Amino acid sequence: MGYTDVHCHILPQVDDGSQSMDETMEMLRIASRSGITSMIVTPHYKRGRVGTPRDEIGRLLQAVRERAEEEQISIRLYPGTEIYYNSSLEEKLENGWISRMNDTDFILVEFSPMESFPYIRNAIDDIFSMGYRPIIAHVERYGCMLGKPENVRIIHEMGCLVQVNAGSVAGNYGFKAKHFIQKLLREHLIEFVGTDAHNASGRPPEMAKCADLIYRKCDREYADGILFGNAEKYLLGK
Ligand SMILES: [Fe+2]
Repeated sequence: MGYTDVHCHILPQVDDGSQSMDETMEMLRIASRSGITSMIVTPHYKRGRVGTPRDEIGRLLQAVRERAEEEQISIRLYPGTEIYYNSSLEEKLENGWISRMNDTDFILVEFSPMESFPYIRNAIDDIFSMGYRPIIAHVERYGCMLGKPENVRIIHEMGCLVQVNAGSVAGNYGFKAKHFIQKLLREHLIEFVGTDAHNASGRPPEMAKCADLIYRKCDREYADGILFGNAEKYLLGK
């Protein structure tokens, strides 16, 4: 079983991720070499700034799948969105404009790195009250979470699932983030790893180093869960 990347920006020319179909193919080759066999594509949605409607994501995803098949790259691709939370998301979720995680009730949400903890907690409540289940994107990026596992524990107990970035696990973003993630791993507070890949060079879809570390630090069952099993169970398993 290969790894599942639940957070990446590989769709061409829709956000600050891949800028061409060729770059997308290069990213898929890197992902494949790194042991990834499934990816949920999550272009940014930021109200009034960036956003790709669900139909368009579906159309582009099909084009990427076809080209990948021609190039004999074997990775399963699923639709999603990385949603920058705002309090008026409901309409665009309800009318299907925004793509949820593989059309499940799960949505991947991000916040400003400087956002306060009460704001994030209220947002999670708000998302549940709309009838969706939040996955918090790269939990290590927020000032109110980094170094404060107690806050992650609170949102986890609310039912929010937790995603961290593979590069942070591997230590590419400093010791503090790496150390914090190790604490979360010990408490089993993480459900998913994503590469949050934006290109083929500076932020590529690399999972291997992160996976090695997780298998060294965690028991096999939990490691399998965050690297592919939870994605299968919550997002892909139909
Ligand atoms: Fe992202």
